[in-house]
Amino acid sequence: MASVWQAARVAATTTTIFAEMSALAVATESVNLGQGFPDTDGPDFMLDEARMAIATGINQYPPGRGIRPLRQAISDHCRRHYGLTYDPETEVLVTTGATEALAATILAFVDPGDEVVALEPFYDSYAASIELAGGRRVGVGLFGPDFRLDHGELAAAFTDRTKALIINTPHNPTGVVLDRADLAEIARLAVQHDVLVICDEVYEHLTFDDAEHLPLAGFPGMRERTIRISSAGKTFSATGWKIGWALSTPELITGITAVKQFLTYVSGAPFQPAVARALNEGDDWVEFARRELQGKRDRLAAGLREVGLEPVIPRGTYFMSTDVRPLGYTDGVEFCRDLPARCGVVAIPHQVFYDNVEAGRPYVRWAFCKQDHVLDEAISRLHQLAEPRHRAREAARPSPV
Ligand SMILES: Cc1ncc(COP(=O)(O)O)c(C=O)c1O
Repeated sequence: MASVWQAARVAATTTTIFAEMSALAVATESVNLGQGFPDTDGPDFMLDEARMAIATGINQYPPGRGIRPLRQAISDHCRRHYGLTYDPETEVLVTTGATEALAATILAFVDPGDEVVALEPFYDSYAASIELAGGRRVGVGLFGPDFRLDHGELAAAFTDRTKALIINTPHNPTGVVLDRADLAEIARLAVQHDVLVICDEVYEHLTFDDAEHLPLAGFPGMRERTIRISSAGKTFSATGWKIGWALSTPELITGITAVKQFLTYVSGAPFQPAVARALNEGDDWVEFARRELQGKRDRLAAGLREVGLEPVIPRGTYFMSTDVRPLGYTDGVEFCRDLPARCGVVAIPHQVFYDNVEAGRPYVRWAFCKQDHVLDEAISRLHQLAEPRHRAREAARPSPV
């Protein structure tokens, strides 16, 4: 229950479905395909570098914008992969994960009453940060079964109150990777309406088949209005390190830094040299991890098909979606709440990522960034879904003593 002292501004911000489902996973000893974190570590040389940093005294406040070698590595990485140049002195800010970069950006530029357009379903921190800033979020739906961006709907979302656009590609939870035509249309509308564009690109390297991640900042008219946000968490399998970054013009980075200094001041000193090294030397490791992940995607997709759940094959991220209606459910929340008791697996319902709850109702999200034996165990347990629902519920009920 909410405290009587709770600020009205955050009254709607409650415990997330991730916390609820992760607690359920522990209580029922379920295989957790809910929360999106890998169960293996990043490259050894990166882990060694962090250990060495701690052992050699890199444990006090680093510079507010991040250590120079990391800012240089972020800038070099961006030039090497996308041909985009950012000055490490004035155009790069190291943050406490992408989450802080997103929050600081939204708090820096969104005033009460401003509208922020975001692709829906959206990553939950967008809604919370927009609310903290007093802004109003406007969703543009990516709807199942193919989750494609509707250019007409996007154009219709702009009003004279639109201040910013949040674009997440590759997209969590749908796995959509926006293509050149989508990005060109987004750029055209952003320039036409003169809005800021916040690009969440944390899955930039997790793309499959022939999908290519294209940064929106590279499109005409976008460099000066775009904040590129990413982090080491997904790319280098280190979600707990919380080293992220924002890239933009000196003016925009100065505005974000002004907020960041009062949120966290600085970010994880010993992890910074380690991430710098990973960005400089880790391209081969990232390519290897990406191929492995594509194999895991295909492994889970085959398993879900075996139990009657046809997956929407993602072109990026480490999430896959299925419609649960073939298994007799109409509501993903009901399905996800039943699943641990029925077969000992946890997934996340899509509707928690939507304002338009109806649009997300029948879909659930499965994370496949897990070791093969974990995915195999989950698939083997999911075969129990063939059992009638009432029998599984009876089995889960505690017996009287
Ligand atoms: C779309 C998206 N953006 C941002 C984040 C958070 O990134 P970080 O852990 O670097 O704060 C996540 C994490 O799941 C995410 O899925």
